[in-house]
Amino acid sequence: MGAASNTDQAAIIDSAIKGISHIASLPEITLKIIELVEDPSSTAQDLHKIISNDPALCSRILKVVNSAFYGLPRQIGSINRAIVLLGLNAVKNIAIAASLTKLFRGGDLCPHFSARKLWIHSIAVAAGSKLLCDELNLGLPDEAFLAGLMHDIGIMVEMQAMRNELIQLFEELPIDGDGVPLADMIEHEDRIFGANHQQFGAALCDTWKFPKSFSYVTGHHHDPMSLPKSNRRLACIVYVADRLASQADYGFRLDLQSTEISQEILDELGMNEEQLQGIRDGLASAYEEVEATFN
Ligand SMILES: [Fe+2]
Ligand SMILES: [Fe+2]
Repeated sequence: MGAASNTDQAAIIDSAIKGISHIASLPEITLKIIELVEDPSSTAQDLHKIISNDPALCSRILKVVNSAFYGLPRQIGSINRAIVLLGLNAVKNIAIAASLTKLFRGGDLCPHFSARKLWIHSIAVAAGSKLLCDELNLGLPDEAFLAGLMHDIGIMVEMQAMRNELIQLFEELPIDGDGVPLADMIEHEDRIFGANHQQFGAALCDTWKFPKSFSYVTGHHHDPMSLPKSNRRLACIVYVADRLASQADYGFRLDLQSTEISQEILDELGMNEEQLQGIRDGLASAYEEVEATFN
C-alpha cells in the first residue's frame, strides 16, 4: 500500500472501525456508564442504578475494589460504598476495564501471535502503569490502569477487521529465536494496512467517546514525546510500563524491537533508576493480582 495520503489513511481507519461492529460496540451497559460520567449533572445514585442492573458486573467491580491491588483498609460490600470511597470516575474506569476482558478473546492467529498473548501483555502494562502512577503520586491510578489495558487495542481492531493481512504481517516480520522482532512492526503495518495500531486504537477510543487522554495514549505510546507537553504524561507512563512488561517477558512484544527506556522520557516523568527498579520488583505480584481479579 506504500505511503497512504492523509485522506486515504483516514478512509482506511474509518472503514476498519466500521468493519468491526462487534468489537466497536462495547457492552451497552459500559456505554451507558461512560455517557453518565461524562454528563456533569449525573450523580453517584445514577451510576449505582445502572450498575445494579448487572449483578455479574457488580460483583466483578467489587472484586477489583477489594483486591490487594487497591489496598483499602476494609472490605467494601456495595457499589454505593465504592463510589463514596473512590469517586464516580474511578468506579467508571474500573467498570470499563472489567468489561473489556471479552474483547481480547480468540484463538491463536499464527505461531507468533494470539489474542491471549496480547491480553497477558495488556494486563501487565495496566498493572505497571498503575504502579508508576502510584510511585509518582499522580493520583490517577484508575485512569493509568485503564489506559495501560487499552494501549495496544488497535491490534485487536486489525485482528477483527483485517485478519488475513495481520497473519501476513506476522509471517513477513522477521523474528529471532527469542521472539524479538528484527524489524519495525509499525513500518510493516503502515505498508500492509496503510495505518498502524496506534491510529486504529486512537480511532476506536474516539468512536467509544472515551476522554481524549485515552486516544493520546493509544495513539502515541510508541512516541509520547510527539504529544504536546500538557498531554504527554499518561502516554509516557504507558510507554515505560510497555517496556517494563516486555523486559519481564509478559506476552506480546512484537511491536518493540528494543525494550530500552529512553532517558528523555524518564526525565519527563521525573523518575530515577531506583524508582524504576522498584516498579520492576513490584510488577510480578501486581500482575498476579490483576490476573486473578480479571479472569
Ligand atoms: Fe504498541
Ligand atoms: Fe504494548
